[in-house]
Amino acid sequence: MPRHRSDRARVSAPAALAALSLLLTSCGGVGDAAQPEGENGVVGISMPTQSWERWVNDGANMVSDFEERGYGTDLQFAEDVVEDQLAQVENMITRGADVLVIAAVDGSALGDVLDMAADNDIPVIAYDRLIMESPNVDYYATFDNHQVGVLQGEYIVDTLDLENEDGPFNIELFGGAPDDNNSYFFNDGAMEVLQPHIDDGTLEVGSGQTSMEQIATERWDGSVAQSRMDNLLSANYSDEDIDAVLSPFDGISLGVIESLRAIGYGTEERPFPVVTGQDAEISSVRSIVAGEQTQTVFKDTRELAAQTVDMVDAVVEGEEVPVNDTESYDNGTGVVPAFLLDPVSVDADNYEEALIESGYYEESDLDE
Ligand code: GAL
Repeated sequence: MPRHRSDRARVSAPAALAALSLLLTSCGGVGDAAQPEGENGVVGISMPTQSWERWVNDGANMVSDFEERGYGTDLQFAEDVVEDQLAQVENMITRGADVLVIAAVDGSALGDVLDMAADNDIPVIAYDRLIMESPNVDYYATFDNHQVGVLQGEYIVDTLDLENEDGPFNIELFGGAPDDNNSYFFNDGAMEVLQPHIDDGTLEVGSGQTSMEQIATERWDGSVAQSRMDNLLSANYSDEDIDAVLSPFDGISLGVIESLRAIGYGTEERPFPVVTGQDAEISSVRSIVAGEQTQTVFKDTRELAAQTVDMVDAVVEGEEVPVNDTESYDNGTGVVPAFLLDPVSVDADNYEEALIESGYYEESDLDE
């Protein structure tokens, strides 16, 4: 059974940022030597990038939660460069990490370095993104990724009122990074909801691009999405407007919105289409409040960090590790036992309750 974490001091996103900057000042920057060893050992934390707040918050929340439990931490960000992540994890092992927590840049690129971890009896927890094609992944802490996609698909169906309207409505689909296993779970969840409406003709994908090969976005890069959206609009929407865009991530959503704005969307006569998203990044929450992006999926990084710390602590103490899914996440070498947290759909109607009242953001964070 998962342990309850309600007694834990929660770190808000701004507090997490502050904690991280303190950490950076005190140790001279990410990339320096390991943090002092805690009484329970050192946890190597490898995060993909600092380009998005969520990963900065994930890292800072884990550092603070691990330290509270008597662990030292060695936090590194790979800035989306696969080779840098490999080198950073290798260094963590060399410096004596006792446990590794990794959110992979490329889910299938870590095999050799995880062999090295296994040779040194270092347990590995995959964080948010499943590490693929390696038998040396002990546990997986994440959100219900399929449900994230379902929430995005349902939001489009509800907002366009597809149960009652005949349409046809025009939609374009975006996918996440092709080397991130999550991308396929998000897409499967969303298409489970959208496909029946495509099949019965109420939704039309103007470009005809529906496969992951066609819709994926390398490295989750918003500028890649923006260029693809430019092309989709000029090739398919010179006569008709677009009604909805399935976007799996806020960075992609903002790229899509810029592309739409450039050709005149965002006015009273020509409003933005429904645009989904994920992560409740501050820039996207501002965009939602401004009536541009329509929705995001909030995944509370405080909860994911706390859950991961519980799992690591149980591994280290030799106790039963809290998991709630032993079927969904096969990494190609077998099913990795996972704990899935619940994602929450957020739009202009509930952002205050979900993000401000929960203490994740301060109202002032949303000021431009
Ligand atoms: C995914 C993650 C999303 C989003 C995306 C881009 O793996 O589950 O929440 O952060 O990466 O960073």
